[in-house]
Amino acid sequence: MMLKIAVLGCGRIGRMHAENIAAHPRATLAGVFDIHRPAAVEVGSKLATTVFDAVDEVFSSTVVDAVLIATSTPTHADFIEKAVAAGKPILCEKPIDLSLERVQRCANTIGSTAVPIMLGFVRRFDPGHRAVRNAIQAGDIGDLHQVVITSRDPGMPPVAYAEASGGIFRDMTIHDFDMARFILGEEVTEVFSIGSRLVDPVLMERLGDYDTASVVLTTATGRQCIINNSRQAAYGYDQRVEALGTKGMVISENRRPNMTTLHRAEFTGQGAPLLNFFIDRYAEAFSTEISAFVDAIESGRPPEVGFEDGRQALILAEAAIKSAAEGRTVKTSEIG
Ligand SMILES: NC(=O)c1ccc[n+]([C@@H]2O[C@H](COP(=O)([O-])OP(=O)(O)OC[C@H]3O[C@@H](n4cnc5c(N)ncnc54)[C@H](O)[C@@H]3O)[C@@H](O)[C@H]2O)c1
Repeated sequence: MMLKIAVLGCGRIGRMHAENIAAHPRATLAGVFDIHRPAAVEVGSKLATTVFDAVDEVFSSTVVDAVLIATSTPTHADFIEKAVAAGKPILCEKPIDLSLERVQRCANTIGSTAVPIMLGFVRRFDPGHRAVRNAIQAGDIGDLHQVVITSRDPGMPPVAYAEASGGIFRDMTIHDFDMARFILGEEVTEVFSIGSRLVDPVLMERLGDYDTASVVLTTATGRQCIINNSRQAAYGYDQRVEALGTKGMVISENRRPNMTTLHRAEFTGQGAPLLNFFIDRYAEAFSTEISAFVDAIESGRPPEVGFEDGRQALILAEAAIKSAAEGRTVKTSEIG
């Protein structure tokens, strides 16, 4: 049985998902839709698939088993509600919405639906990051005490993107909040954060945003997670996860196109530049994410990362925004 998945949104990430679905051994691309029709036509012709004329055609189509929502963020909650009403399983890109209130309304509308909803926190499917969690669960580092997540972009996003992003904590750190929950294995109770305007102070000041941020998360048992973010790392897309326990440490390192290093008299350990940005760095994870979605539908088990994970990550983002603004530790119970 091939799962027939339609892709909504043919932008930067939607076209990559469409290609991954078309190449997947247990899924087929049931068609694409984008409000900007030329984008859908381009992807549709390249992958020889149906181009839907309207979004409701996708939800009512009998040849569509499931939908992947890769449209702009403000459409996600509406499309989740429509897909649930149509009984179509959903893989939705992060975030559910930039507003916790809208996420809550969406949760109320869909209620305790049996329709599977998976959220695209793709980093959970990175083999290195997942191996960190597996090592912790296997007891390899003893009792977990501290997690350190380094997540730095190679450069500032375009101004229009920054303006619509909802700010660094909702846009960028949201991945790290989910990674923290994934690795810590228990819920965060307290958040302390600071933000600075060092890369583009003028733009950040205008937007009331930060380009450099540090966050400390604490769980009820006292486990800590330290997240450091920058919008600009001169050496490339820096993605590392480290966990310290009573018996040792486990690290998920950066990835390069190859792991060869050059050693000479004047230097040692010179390697190729890091894989460029998320589509390259997480290529394997994006493909595994589709497999995890197909697995969930085929097995009837809930997707391992779902709507509630999206809501929890947004709660941490709101707590971080409040903490940075008020200069104090914020309890997650204060949010939402
Ligand atoms: N998981 C990740 O690492 C990751 C990375 C990048 C982006 N994202 C998320 O994916 C989503 C898309 O991001 P992107 O970078 O591809 O953006 P993009 O702007 O390149 O693409 C969005 C597409 O959605 C289309 N669209 C907008 N409103 C629509 C509507 N009502 N109906 C149909 N199509 C509509 C636009 O025309 C555009 O083609 C965002 O929510 C973003 O946060 C996730």
